[in-house]
Amino acid sequence: MRISVALGLFAVTVTASPTKFGRGECAETIERDVAVIGGGASGAHAAVWLRDAGYSVVVVERAAQLGGHTNFYTDPASGTSINVGVQGWVEYNSAFDFPHRMNVSTSGAMSFTPNTVQYIDYETGHPVAGYTAPDQADMNAALQRYLDVLEQYQDLVLPGFFNFPSDPASIPEDLLIPFGEFAEKHNLSAALPQIWDATAQGLGDTMHVPTLWVVQACGAPFVRALLGTAASAVPESGRLYDLYDSVAAFLGSDVLYSSTVISTTRSDDGGDDDTAHPISLKVLSATTNKHTRIHARRLLLSMEPTPANISPFDLDDSETAILARFNYSTVYAGVLRHPSLQTLNAYTNRSPEPGSLNYTVFPVAPQVGRIEYVGGTEDIFALTAVGTAEDTAEGMKRRVNEAVEAMIEAGTLPPPSDGSDDRKRTVEVDFELFADHGHMHSRVSAEELRAGFITDLYSLQGRRNTFWTGAAFSAGFSTVVWEFNKVLLPKVIEGL
Ligand SMILES: Cc1cc2nc3c(=O)[nH]c(=O)nc-3n(C[C@H](O)[C@H](O)[C@H](O)COP(=O)(O)OP(=O)(O)OC[C@H]3O[C@@H](n4cnc5c(N)ncnc54)[C@H](O)[C@@H]3O)c2cc1C
Ligand SMILES: *[C@@H]1O[C@H](CO)[C@@H](O)[C@H](O)[C@H]1NC(C)=O
Ligand SMILES: *[C@@H]1O[C@H](CO)[C@@H](O)[C@H](O)[C@H]1NC(C)=O
Ligand SMILES: *[C@@H]1O[C@H](CO)[C@@H](O)[C@H](O)[C@H]1NC(C)=O
Ligand SMILES: *[C@@H]1O[C@H](CO)[C@@H](O)[C@H](O)[C@H]1NC(C)=O
Repeated sequence: MRISVALGLFAVTVTASPTKFGRGECAETIERDVAVIGGGASGAHAAVWLRDAGYSVVVVERAAQLGGHTNFYTDPASGTSINVGVQGWVEYNSAFDFPHRMNVSTSGAMSFTPNTVQYIDYETGHPVAGYTAPDQADMNAALQRYLDVLEQYQDLVLPGFFNFPSDPASIPEDLLIPFGEFAEKHNLSAALPQIWDATAQGLGDTMHVPTLWVVQACGAPFVRALLGTAASAVPESGRLYDLYDSVAAFLGSDVLYSSTVISTTRSDDGGDDDTAHPISLKVLSATTNKHTRIHARRLLLSMEPTPANISPFDLDDSETAILARFNYSTVYAGVLRHPSLQTLNAYTNRSPEPGSLNYTVFPVAPQVGRIEYVGGTEDIFALTAVGTAEDTAEGMKRRVNEAVEAMIEAGTLPPPSDGSDDRKRTVEVDFELFADHGHMHSRVSAEELRAGFITDLYSLQGRRNTFWTGAAFSAGFSTVVWEFNKVLLPKVIEGL
């Protein structure tokens, strides 16, 4: 069965020609060395790297812009650009080479608004009684303890799992135990609110996932940045999106925007003829409704490998089964206004359980993590929220509204008017920008890890001329995926 499938695909490929695939069906046929799917942090970097190495590329990007989780909001009143999603580039190896290559500096400093932080149970809208943040010195000591453990394992997990043990007995137990247990073992509780607020809440049920996945969301480079021993850089302009403007200008028409792949054929090799294009993709543009045929010698997938995202790529059953083992959460960010929210305040979600007072218990997704004053402009607030794999943008917007209403009901926030008119209590949140970052923080259980999941995952690299980059194969930081690409891409171009 397997042989006949492979032979069948090979036969399709060797006879592939623009005529066979029907020029009439596609408005245009283009040939490239590498087709990159997704133009976020990893895809944009890979396309530039490949072009610099002398290969032709095309990027197929579903959105109308590059950048993925790096988004921005331009305040119409002041013209100020606010970073939405990615807030800074954490220093890691020589990753800053990439912005510099694109003529974007890393000399700026992240700006912080001097907000008063309020710890609220978003379910009831009441402040969590007795909650105080850990003492700064305790927090730093605990972050240092965390970093000391991370540094023992960083070569196994950064910039990807290239050195991860294939033998289950060699996987450090620290990476397999639930994060809550790990935190207790290493006396990290004073660092947990910072770790959770910064990134780790994205895992949804952070205290119960295997520690490996928290390490990928909050690893050594990031903790060094939190401790101030490594940079967390932004361009001089403060606007991280400058990088993707520069990449877009550089790549020009080699990016197909608002486009998705709708069908694919991939063969095992290009035959003896090294000009052959074993990858054939049919792409649909949502703006023009036209189809484009791409013939490529390699396929590089950079989007999250969710079942929906991978379905058009002609994966075989074993490839699909490996990727189907990933579980995800969903992450949302945005910019909003509501007349009850107070400037110079940050409203941070905390659990009302007693364990939250010693930092062992945190809210579980779906939850609105934080609403905080952005600064600079009168009344703009930034939002972070985390859902389960099943949550949707609409549902999460409702949760944000419910959280604000609950705070008004509880008296934590003043009613939108003078309070005499009860109907005014239900003024809706005005979402200036609501970024649905979709499925992320891919993870599997400790049992799957012991059963060789990482080895299986990496066995996908190179199969039928197909390679994978992005956070699921690396870690959830722009600079880390750029360094991951530097290891992966030489393999992608081998034999080209
Ligand atoms: C709220 C938030 C804050 C963050 N803050 C930071 C930070 O401060 N610093 C940091 O380093 N990292 C931060 N991250 C993480 C960082 O954004 C990711 O680790 C990084 O973007 C991963 O890069 P990627 O290429 O894997 O994914 P992405 O950047 O998400 O890129 C994937 C791209 O693929 C596209 N795509 C998806 N599906 C398809 C499809 N089917 N067809 C075509 N295109 C598709 C998407 O539109 C997107 O452009 C943050 C993430 C979030 C959500
Ligand atoms: C960077 O600036 C140099 C000098 O002005 C220019 O030659 C080059 O094309 C620029 N590169 C990009 C990617 O913008
Ligand atoms: C654990 O951390 C607390 C502060 O967070 C510190 O006071 C205590 O000494 C630490 N215990 C050990 C055994 O390191
Ligand atoms: C934290 O508080 C909870 C609830 O009071 C308690 O059960 C738990 O043992 C405490 N944990 C630590 C590490 O103090
Ligand atoms: C994924 O999550 C579901 C629902 O929580 C759970 O039943 C399943 O076991 C999880 N799978 C893995 C691989 O962790």
